[in-house]
Amino acid sequence: MTQKKSSRIIPGQTIGILGGGQLGRMTAIAARALGYQVHALDPDPQCPVRPVVDRFLDARFDEPDAAAYLARRCAVVTLEIEQISQASLEAAAQHAPVRPGVELMRIVQHRARQKAWLTGHGFPVGEWREASSEDELVRVAPALGVGAFVKVSEGGYDGRGQARLRTADASGAREAWKSLGEVPCVIERALDLEAELSVLVARSPSGEVKVFAAALNEHINQVLDVSVTPAPVDPIVAQRAHEIGADLAVSLGLEGILAVELFLLRDGSLKVNELSPRPHNTFHATELASPTSQFAQLVRAVCDLPLGVVDPVRPAAIANLLGDLWCGPNPPRIEAALEVPGVNLYLYGKTIARPGRKMGHLISTGDNPEDAMRRVREARARIEASVRT
Ligand SMILES: Nc1ncnc2c1ncn2[C@@H]1O[C@H](COP(=O)(O)OP(=O)(O)OP(=O)(O)O)[C@@H](O)[C@H]1O
Ligand SMILES: [Mg+2]
Repeated sequence: MTQKKSSRIIPGQTIGILGGGQLGRMTAIAARALGYQVHALDPDPQCPVRPVVDRFLDARFDEPDAAAYLARRCAVVTLEIEQISQASLEAAAQHAPVRPGVELMRIVQHRARQKAWLTGHGFPVGEWREASSEDELVRVAPALGVGAFVKVSEGGYDGRGQARLRTADASGAREAWKSLGEVPCVIERALDLEAELSVLVARSPSGEVKVFAAALNEHINQVLDVSVTPAPVDPIVAQRAHEIGADLAVSLGLEGILAVELFLLRDGSLKVNELSPRPHNTFHATELASPTSQFAQLVRAVCDLPLGVVDPVRPAAIANLLGDLWCGPNPPRIEAALEVPGVNLYLYGKTIARPGRKMGHLISTGDNPEDAMRRVREARARIEASVRT
């Protein structure tokens, strides 16, 4: 007879992670620090998680039998990537709790469904429409204006799966439809951004909720470049971001962590861009900025342990290290970044570098958010200089 698993998972038990990228790797390291065993599943046998887990399963994210196999050997299953099939999540849930939650994943995995849920639950979002055919896109897109963002409903990330509407007529819509591969999409009015923020909220199955201080994010070509926490913004804006995060966690019945990407508009209002119920690139700085990192908090949340304190202890900023650095004629001198006081280096153990691929990141603390950003940029500039000489 199988024993009913209680909600709290204690150190020594096994956590399963669906996905083996850098976020899974850092979650696994945090879990191990707390004394857990970790199993992980990913289709890439060279993935970053592999060297740091007790057991690795080489399988696709749409193989329910593999997810069930993992879950049977784990006390709880979590994930580090959204693209796990519903069938796999449901199969895993037959054997262990799946946290952040199967129904929550169904809502967030699909852009249009996520936006409809946000709109229906009264959360602020920019103007948007949905299109599941070329004719529908031609009908609805022009109203959202030139420059509107057209985003595939399923599977986009790091700005991939996105196009801009070049003209506000049928030809602009047809061009976007073709360039995205003729798949269902959402269309969003291009908002006039003052800044981009994110919040990260944790909620445990027992209902405890904690929200990390907001981060301020700077993007280049739709990809995150530098992020700093606490966000140097009006405290009223930061408080509103905090409330949106906490309200979302409760409304979604979150069991785990959820990153909320927010747009701060020039009129001072906040709009929810998108939800990621997993660790997030913009909260890596919590390793140094907060007594509890996002990864440790995820482990606590999915294990239903008391959540860790998240009050910021000092400002910290992160900068991504993209594969471009490794693609030039000279190998980068990565350790040059460590010459800048306050800077720590994190590499994901990826063996193949490609332009745009996230290979690692730097975190710097600072006397204030601007100082932390200055140091982390300077550290990255030293690596860039080493490639040129
Ligand atoms: N409606 C919009 N108005 C203005 N800027 C936008 C809009 N939608 C997206 N952007 C810009 O493009 C970036 C990426 O968009 P989004 O977060 O939707 O894509 P993504 O592929 O999921 O990216 P990531 O994986 O990096 O979060 C945003 O952070 C923002 O800079
Ligand atoms: Mg985004």
